[in-house]
Amino acid sequence: MSTTAVKKVGILTGGGDCPGLNAVIRAVVTRAEQLEVEVLGIRGGWRGFLLGDTEPLTRVRTRGILHEGGTILGTSRQNPFLEKGGPERVEAAFRAWKLDGLIAVGGEGTLSLASKFHERGLRVVGVPKTIDNDLSGTEVTFGFDTAVEVATSLIDRLRTTAEAHERVMVVELMGRHAGWIALHAGLAGGADVVVVPERPTTIEDIIKVVLLRRAEGKLFSLVVMAEGALIQERDAKEAHLVLQNQVPDAFGRPRLGGIGAHVAHCIEDATGIESRVTVLGHVQRGGTPTARDRVLALRFGVRAMEALHQGRSGVMVALQADHIVELPLDEATRRKTVDDAWLALADVFCEGPGR
Ligand code: F6P
Repeated sequence: MSTTAVKKVGILTGGGDCPGLNAVIRAVVTRAEQLEVEVLGIRGGWRGFLLGDTEPLTRVRTRGILHEGGTILGTSRQNPFLEKGGPERVEAAFRAWKLDGLIAVGGEGTLSLASKFHERGLRVVGVPKTIDNDLSGTEVTFGFDTAVEVATSLIDRLRTTAEAHERVMVVELMGRHAGWIALHAGLAGGADVVVVPERPTTIEDIIKVVLLRRAEGKLFSLVVMAEGALIQERDAKEAHLVLQNQVPDAFGRPRLGGIGAHVAHCIEDATGIESRVTVLGHVQRGGTPTARDRVLALRFGVRAMEALHQGRSGVMVALQADHIVELPLDEATRRKTVDDAWLALADVFCEGPGR
């Protein structure tokens, strides 16, 4: 581990935005000034390295951003390893800007790139971020609490109108590979059905639950679907995503969305019960972070700055047993999905389709 004095560090935010990013930036800058370290903001994620798009960050610049959603640095999913000479350009900019280290705030994609640059010799510390809460190593990521709060309050609102009209309300929530938001909001909101990517289900199983509830005398139903939920057709070998838009996103990933409308349509078609869909979408990641997310983000930011200042690299800050710890970046970014214990809990309250 290098003991070179740390005088100037860069910070970037990459991937989908997430409530709490500004709190991390503010924490890094505040702690850096106390340690007499200069901070350079790299705008638009890794793209900022390629375009030379930077902004010096001071406490004055980061005043008043703690409670704001989004990120003052902007973000992108640009991957320099997919650009001609990309990694070398990043390294050249790193040297030209006289950076002694970099704090990369992001999810799986951003942090795996951070890990690659660490292996190539840059001093990099990662801060985990995603509303999906699907990074192993940390018990929770900031942004998740906000997303669950927003989703739960949506389900609460849908409950009263569902009951008044005796409808089935299908709610589509974010969650690409992991159903943490759907699971937590579904449990907190008292959903009848929760479907997560970790456990494929059939449309028939969902309909069975709706009809069972009706037979019990409950005349409305709340069905919560993670957008990455997989549907198993009777004769098919593999379960599949339901996508409204078949065009992949800029990075070749399926553009999620559509499962909610599909399920609502199938329920109404099979049962004649009026079924509506609400897609919460990006409302889950916009706007002001909860107090819990702000505090977690502040703790992560301070620790990341201190880790860099003390010469560490290739680590990610994480929450474990309410303590902030550091873990090797490559170990920490493995995917954390909903496990059997959580599914069993959901089954106590929701007739878990796919059981
Ligand atoms: O932040 C993660 C996530 O919320 C996923 O659940 C979702 O699939 C994705 O972002 C959508 O992001 P975008 O619309 O920016 O591609």
